[in-house]
Amino acid sequence: MFLVTGATGNVGRHVLTQLLTQGHKVRALSRRPDKAAWPIEVEVVAGDLTDRTALAAALSGVEAAFLLAAPGCGPDFAAAAESAGVGRVVLMSSGAVGDASAEVRASAIAAYHAEVEHALQASRLEWTFLRPGAFAANSLGWASQTKTGDVIRGAYAEATSAPIHEADIADAAVAALTRDGHGGQAYRLTGPDSLTNAELARILGQTLGRPIAYQELPPEQVRAAMTGHVPAPIVDSLLAIWAASVGRPAEVTSDVEKVTGHPARSFSAWVADHAQDF
Ligand SMILES: NC(=O)c1ccc[n+]([C@@H]2O[C@H](COP(=O)([O-])OP(=O)(O)OC[C@H]3O[C@@H](n4cnc5c(N)ncnc54)[C@H](OP(=O)(O)O)[C@@H]3O)[C@@H](O)[C@H]2O)c1
Repeated sequence: MFLVTGATGNVGRHVLTQLLTQGHKVRALSRRPDKAAWPIEVEVVAGDLTDRTALAAALSGVEAAFLLAAPGCGPDFAAAAESAGVGRVVLMSSGAVGDASAEVRASAIAAYHAEVEHALQASRLEWTFLRPGAFAANSLGWASQTKTGDVIRGAYAEATSAPIHEADIADAAVAALTRDGHGGQAYRLTGPDSLTNAELARILGQTLGRPIAYQELPPEQVRAAMTGHVPAPIVDSLLAIWAASVGRPAEVTSDVEKVTGHPARSFSAWVADHAQDF
């Protein structure tokens, strides 16, 4: 039995589907199980990653788990997984942990992922850390603008990232969950190209077949727009990370290929897979 957390999210939904396709038994943990349509074969446990009772129920009889790094969940998850006799845990951490830039390493984003990593490292569990950079799926935040016009307004036109397709992270997760040789490894997963926000908008437009431009807004205007639905320390971290990336190519690694055997998908391929969302 495999446990998939975050199974209603960008990456977890692919992990769940792939494990089922490979013929594995799968259980999912969700805080809102009634809101999702689950394949009939999936066992669903309702609960939060920070709830010990839910964790005990979710981990009973599990051989390997895909863990989403909910803030603060590490110690209880590691203890519950050890008690349940779980062998392997593949954590979706973040590329902010161990990033080359001091601003990123010092961010609240790096801190809460590192805390979950430390809890697993201190346990007897076999762990693998996936440290993805920016998700290509973050661009879905622009969809409301592309549906009503041809200009994306946002922070730092020249901020860089190497956006990764969620399916590549899921492919790596399934490889680490189901095959030997990944224990004690930390993989820095990125897309194949370092791109600025302005270039992402251009590729989005090219792939959708119409010109799309990027208009830079002052950081304080972006902060005001994010405040209220993103926690303040995360808003601060994101703005600092974007600012620090201007003029600096984003890290590009070959870890997707190393773990999955295939090269990372391009941003253009990601847009083609999500064209209907824009
Ligand atoms: N976005 C990026 O660029 C990026 C980069 C590096 C790493 N990451 C990591 O990827 C994670 C997912 O990112 P995302 O923004 O794309 O989110 P998402 O996958 O769209 O959704 C979050 C998922 O996490 C589950 N979840 C969240 N908190 C939970 C909790 N306390 N207990 C149980 N389940 C919980 C939700 O499940 P239910 O609602 O069904 O409970 C949902 O399936 C982030 O938290 C971060 O750790 C993201």
